[in-house]
Amino acid sequence: MTHEKKDLTRWAVVLSDIHKSFGKNELRFEVLHSIHLKVQKGELLMLVGPSGSGKTTLISIIAGILSFDKGSCHLFGQSLNALNDKEKTSFRLKNLGYVFQAFNLIPMLTAAENVSIPLLLNGIKKNQALSISRDRLSQFGLKDKTEMLPTKLSGGEQQRVAIARAVIHNPRLILCDEPTSALDYENGKKILSHLRSIVDQEKKGLIIVTHDQRIFEYADRIIELEDGRIAKEANNHKQNL
Ligand SMILES: Nc1ncnc2c1ncn2[C@@H]1O[C@H](COP(=O)(O)OP(=O)(O)O)[C@@H](O)[C@H]1O
Ligand SMILES: [Mg+2]
Repeated sequence: MTHEKKDLTRWAVVLSDIHKSFGKNELRFEVLHSIHLKVQKGELLMLVGPSGSGKTTLISIIAGILSFDKGSCHLFGQSLNALNDKEKTSFRLKNLGYVFQAFNLIPMLTAAENVSIPLLLNGIKKNQALSISRDRLSQFGLKDKTEMLPTKLSGGEQQRVAIARAVIHNPRLILCDEPTSALDYENGKKILSHLRSIVDQEKKGLIIVTHDQRIFEYADRIIELEDGRIAKEANNHKQNL
């Protein structure tokens, strides 16, 4: 293994000189300008910044949902661009959990069925997957909602289902887009301490896009994006390696 490659495997995320634009020809505009970012294993990073600053675009690139124009993105030493579509899907399935800003629950499936999807896709049998999913939903305070359809749940409950689905398959990297926007203070804290303990005990990488100042205390590091650039960075308590 070369020195450079070994260095990349030490990190959950290494972004180097990422540029991203939307549109074509004269309508083309760049929304991310040369982003450099490293996230440790066992680090909870929060990404803040005004609406339109590029937060969702950035974590979609890290999740392999969006392509980028220039630069490189390595997750646990693996370059997403070096994988073909099938390999990329399989890598994401095993290694990534993603909480969408709009939850993206499947409307015709119950809460427990929604949460079980990543387990089923990873080859776990349906009954076992449902039972694991119900346990996790209970931990999130949704014990009596496991058999309900998303439309019967409040926004905050749907959000907790989406978070349970993102962590159920024990991914190495969890990406959350505004995960507490619909949660009251108590439930927001409950979810954050759960995520915090996953990061600490299992050395996962976690990136949370948020506006929610109430949860800043859970971060190791907070990065502010402004007009597609990293404008500010603050360490909370842990030192950067
Ligand atoms: N699919 C897209 N096509 C065109 N423009 C987009 C697309 N997605 C995002 N944008 C634009 O990119 C910029 C950054 O958006 P976004 O990453 O969603 O910001 P944030 O999540 O910080 O609010 C905005 O100007 C937005 O309008
Ligand atoms: Mg956004």
